[in-house]
Amino acid sequence: MRIVRRIGDLELDDVVGLVPTMGALHAGHEALIAAARTECETVVVSVFVNPAQFDQGVDLAAYPRDEERDLRIAEAAGADVLFAPAQEEMYPPGFQTWVEVEELSRGLEGSHRPGHFRGVATVCLKLFNIVRPRYAYFGQKDAQQVAVVRRLVRDLDLDVEIRSVPTVRDADGLALSSRNGRLSAAERELALALPRALATRDLAAARAALAGLDVDYVEIADFDPPVLAAAVRVGGTRLIDNVVLEEEQ
Ligand code: PAF
Repeated sequence: MRIVRRIGDLELDDVVGLVPTMGALHAGHEALIAAARTECETVVVSVFVNPAQFDQGVDLAAYPRDEERDLRIAEAAGADVLFAPAQEEMYPPGFQTWVEVEELSRGLEGSHRPGHFRGVATVCLKLFNIVRPRYAYFGQKDAQQVAVVRRLVRDLDLDVEIRSVPTVRDADGLALSSRNGRLSAAERELALALPRALATRDLAAARAALAGLDVDYVEIADFDPPVLAAAVRVGGTRLIDNVVLEEEQ
């Protein structure tokens, strides 16, 4: 597998699939790479911990980074290229251009993480321009992110198709996330209330099931498809999850 660090070194002209990540790869990312592998000639995995989407410096500093491990996982999952730019490559001195998907970025995650989706939309637009993928793959676990990126693509007439890949869960039901590793065994037990509550697919029942936890929100979001989404804090770890309420036609 090729590692590319400079934007100018990425010259790809076949059917390219992009899997944008912030590293700390897990089976959820492997599912994205596998989906890309089925329909693309070249699969590019980007690994870039995007400072612009973190509202809290502590969270950015605590974000797990292990490029060698990411490389091994991406390669075994079938990726051809790992695009791992430095921060200055993506945000050179004097950087001052941002893209904002206004309405969809409000509410849910947007209410609790100011500026988060501005950072996500900007870095995704940059990655689409740099990699020029035919398809880009995102996890359904971040349902609002999928909605924001789809809107970005539509509003700015970007020539890329967004694919949303079903959430991968551990055997106990917890959705895979790079943050799960921060949970102690006791915290993980508590965190399981989140997938159990969402599995009811009922707003009132989910709210009741999460009553004892530190809940940021439990809401039905009118995305395409609609989802029942929630975010909770367990110890110092913030977890999000959602379930699709109606399957796409
Ligand atoms: O979902 C993520 O890991 C990030 O938000 C993304 C899409 C790679 C943008 O930095």
